[in-house]
Amino acid sequence: MQPKIEFKAVTFTYHNQVKALEQVSFSIVNGETVALIGQNGSGKSTIAKLIDGLLMTTSGTVLIDGVALTENDLVKLRKEIGIVFQNPDDQIIGATVEEDVAFGLENRNLAYDEMQQRVNKALKAVGMTEYRSVSPALLSGGQKQKVSLARALALEPSILILDEATSMLDPIAKTEIKHIIKELQAKYQLTVIYITHDMEMLEKVDHVIALNHGTLIFNGKPSDLYQDQLILKQLAMQPPFTEQVKAIFKARGFNPPTEYLDDRGLTEWITKLF
Ligand SMILES: Nc1ncnc2c1ncn2[C@@H]1O[C@H](COP(=O)(O)OP(=O)(O)OP(=O)(O)O)[C@@H](O)[C@H]1O
Ligand SMILES: [Mg+2]
Repeated sequence: MQPKIEFKAVTFTYHNQVKALEQVSFSIVNGETVALIGQNGSGKSTIAKLIDGLLMTTSGTVLIDGVALTENDLVKLRKEIGIVFQNPDDQIIGATVEEDVAFGLENRNLAYDEMQQRVNKALKAVGMTEYRSVSPALLSGGQKQKVSLARALALEPSILILDEATSMLDPIAKTEIKHIIKELQAKYQLTVIYITHDMEMLEKVDHVIALNHGTLIFNGKPSDLYQDQLILKQLAMQPPFTEQVKAIFKARGFNPPTEYLDDRGLTEWITKLF
């Protein structure tokens, strides 16, 4: 099957000669949920910007739906991609929340009604309808993140990239937004990339891509990552609690299942022992 996104030996060097990515290759299947992880400065946001065409590779190729991202195709391909960056303050453009959400739609030749409808739907999805006439400058960090997310959703993208985009949200809003994204995925085969430091997030994804100093160090299922002590150490990550409990049982001569268990799975396994 043709990957939705493919990186082929991508190297990227910033103007100041900082090599942010070196020979990075991976592919992402259509409709997948991916976590892109790695320590600060490992190259995650650079990958997001290369997918969105904000940066062009120094060498190597980025393909979306099998088409190489070149300056010529950029306009067309970027329509496919909704991206929410780390710092919501960098993204606020409109004088009101409503204008801000509509901003990305302006160059798309949409009828006024269609535009209004999309803005309404996106604001409703993130629970910000009542703030539509407010100046974004007056919002809290989490509210700004919601507006940024609404702007990305209004584009009805086929790829959604969230660069630490839920970091300022409270637990309820975080859960709600994950739920909304899951629904969109089921409906539209949306491909989602979560750039995250949140170990909890990994349990919810199909695929993990991990970077260390600009190099790909893991590309696979979360359950395989949890078994790999060396990679976890490079990422400065602890295995999930359930994996730690499994390791204790194993050391005591028990034989826990090798596949990943969530809290519930672990409880069931332990219950069967006694
Ligand atoms: N605009 C820029 N100009 C020069 N160097 C940059 C620029 N943006 C990032 N870098 C460098 O590129 C490397 C990768 O940065 P990147 O922003 O992709 O990391 P990241 O994994 O997103 O980190 P974080 O978790 O802190 O957001 C870092 O060494 C960083 O200093
Ligand atoms: Mg970043």
